[in-house]
Amino acid sequence: MKIAITSVNGQLGSAIAMQLISKIGKENVIGIARTPKKAEHLGIEIRKGDYNSLQQFNEALKGVDAVLLISGMDAPEKRIQQHRNVIEAAKNNSVKKIVYTSIVGAEENNAFSPVVQSNRQTEKDIQNSGLDWVIGRNGIYIEPDLEYIETYAKEGEIRNCAGDGKCTYTSRTELGFAYTNMLTEAKHSQKIYNLVGEAITQTQLANYINEVYNTNLVYKPVSIDAYKTERIAELGDFMGTIIAGIYQGIRSGANHVTSDFETASSRAHKSALQIIKDFKIAN
Ligand SMILES: NC(=O)c1ccc[n+]([C@@H]2O[C@H](COP(=O)([O-])OP(=O)(O)OC[C@H]3O[C@@H](n4cnc5c(N)ncnc54)[C@H](OP(=O)(O)O)[C@@H]3O)[C@@H](O)[C@H]2O)c1
Repeated sequence: MKIAITSVNGQLGSAIAMQLISKIGKENVIGIARTPKKAEHLGIEIRKGDYNSLQQFNEALKGVDAVLLISGMDAPEKRIQQHRNVIEAAKNNSVKKIVYTSIVGAEENNAFSPVVQSNRQTEKDIQNSGLDWVIGRNGIYIEPDLEYIETYAKEGEIRNCAGDGKCTYTSRTELGFAYTNMLTEAKHSQKIYNLVGEAITQTQLANYINEVYNTNLVYKPVSIDAYKTERIAELGDFMGTIIAGIYQGIRSGANHVTSDFETASSRAHKSALQIIKDFKIAN
């Protein structure tokens, strides 16, 4: 059984690849990357695959039994066709199963919604592909917050527009565990899973970080407009608007969803506190 992972050099792709390798062996995992050189460290066969190229995926998916399609990073209107290239190439190569990393979030009413909608369109395309399929809707991962700790500590606060909204954070490592099971076990056929952990507020997040990192962060809620302006100044129009939309979604409850993690993984999701402790040890 050969399983291929797209965008394998990315942080999510690598986290999944490493767990899959330890479950089924190096010789059975094929990495696909836009820039193959960036994935050499994984020590597996790497093939070239840019989502813009159907031709590259027609080659990359030769002899593959199952493929994990990791959602792209481009503007939402571009992603749909990019993902269709992978689905088409999977069909052309008689790949049996496709697993897709989708996203939890509001389909309308915030600046992140176009991204969520494009993910929903790919979900439909996958369901209509005629291949066996499994879809994970990923929660927000906690790692970017933990990588940002120095800035939080300097400012003494976590500041965003999520207010009292609860967010079911997960981590790339937890997602890696779930997708490894979803790729290798038949029982997940034709299921859509919310891959999320414990629902916490930003105040709880600050408290957990304080407990593990010995910081004194407080949570400071700001308005949606103020946060959007701040993020655009820091990250530019495209990413700044998306990030503000994500926190607006958390504020409105879009990330407070029930979890299917245990069904997908045959074990409970780790607590947010445990994930933060594990991250500190690993970094
Ligand atoms: N749930 C969450 O909290 C969350 C957060 C961020 C992102 N996401 C989503 O999850 C995905 C994986 O996230 P990540 O943490 O692994 O991000 P990451 O570390 O930035 O990796 C992104 C990956 O996408 C690849 N990529 C971009 N454009 C591509 C293209 N045209 N063709 C093929 N590969 C392409 C990149 O390849 P190069 O190295 O060649 O650029 C890289 O491997 C993202 O793409 C995004 O859709 C989710």
